[in-house]
Amino acid sequence: MHAIEVAQAGGPEQLRWVEVEDPAPGPGQLLVRPAAIGLNFIETYQRSGVYPVEHPFRPGGEGSGEVVAVGEGVTTPSVGDHIAWTASATGSYAELVLVDAEQALPIPAALDVRTAAALPLQGLTVSMLVDGAFHVEAGQDILLTAGAGGVGLLLTQVAAHRGARVITTVSTEEKETLCHAAGASDVVRYERFDDIATELPEAVRSLTGGEGVHVVYDGVGKDTFDGSLASLRSRGTLVLFGGASGPVPPFDPQRLNRGGSLFLTRPTMMHYIADPDERARRWEQVTGWVTDGVVELRVGATFALRDAEHAHRALESRQTTGKVLLLP
Ligand SMILES: NC(=O)c1ccc[n+]([C@@H]2O[C@H](COP(=O)([O-])OP(=O)(O)OC[C@H]3O[C@@H](n4cnc5c(N)ncnc54)[C@H](OP(=O)(O)O)[C@@H]3O)[C@@H](O)[C@H]2O)c1
Repeated sequence: MHAIEVAQAGGPEQLRWVEVEDPAPGPGQLLVRPAAIGLNFIETYQRSGVYPVEHPFRPGGEGSGEVVAVGEGVTTPSVGDHIAWTASATGSYAELVLVDAEQALPIPAALDVRTAAALPLQGLTVSMLVDGAFHVEAGQDILLTAGAGGVGLLLTQVAAHRGARVITTVSTEEKETLCHAAGASDVVRYERFDDIATELPEAVRSLTGGEGVHVVYDGVGKDTFDGSLASLRSRGTLVLFGGASGPVPPFDPQRLNRGGSLFLTRPTMMHYIADPDERARRWEQVTGWVTDGVVELRVGATFALRDAEHAHRALESRQTTGKVLLLP
């Protein structure tokens, strides 16, 4: 089979299409032929060295496809079944993928097997964000950075459905339109700001009667952190869940005091699905959003798996919207 591997940390050109031996499922494992593989920002951090990995490194943490063989002891799912997966290790950028049977996720009837690859990682992340790191309820004011991204469009739809008011930031008119369609009440074009740290909070306070928001969901990180913190109301919560613009530098906790007894959390989805019961419960919630029409998945772009290099370039240069899929 073929796979994408990285021999050393670096730019997208490090993503090489290589021929490797077909893997065989060990005890408790499934061998799956992916219909699609989900692209996620974390793979750019792993490829570039922001998150250290061992080399050669095969990226990829989610997908969906058909079970083509099962290892010893596996009773379910069976050969021929369609499943989705995430978090069962990296290595999904391949024509065949090993998945722990315990981590196989059933695909909701509302989704075809290929589109289902768009849901696990970002869907479970949104579950963690709205019912874990913070609890989103009707009447809250929310600020969300990169509102037209994969996580952004899902979170906006869920929060708006609950009756929260969602203010997003985006860099283009096309993204602004997508945010409004997903239910955002207001969209801030932060690429127009000379100084995000002062102009973003000004814009947010003018939209919230001077109060600021109950929660900021910030996946952009370095460029927005200061502006996000200053956009909170007293006792508000900053959920820093990523660093698309780079990691946030060291931080003085006294700033939480001065900002109004603020809360800061830096959650990772994996910690919210480590327990099998919690993972199952959260997956039920996420698939329920799809089945009940609360969220509509937007696959903004697809790339051939062998062109993973181009997919990484698109994601890192802010050209993508919604979910990006790689097709083997
Ligand atoms: N904590 C977790 O468990 C977890 C799980 C999944 C994802 N995440 C994080 O969530 C964030 C969003 O992930 P995603 O996969 O949905 O990506 P995405 O939002 O689809 O893409 C990233 C977006 O970030 C914005 N951005 C702002 N400055 C940027 C810069 N300098 N370079 C690149 N992008 C920039 C861009 O939107 P604009 O052009 O509109 O600014 C871009 O489209 C990422 O930080 C990711 O690491 C965290």
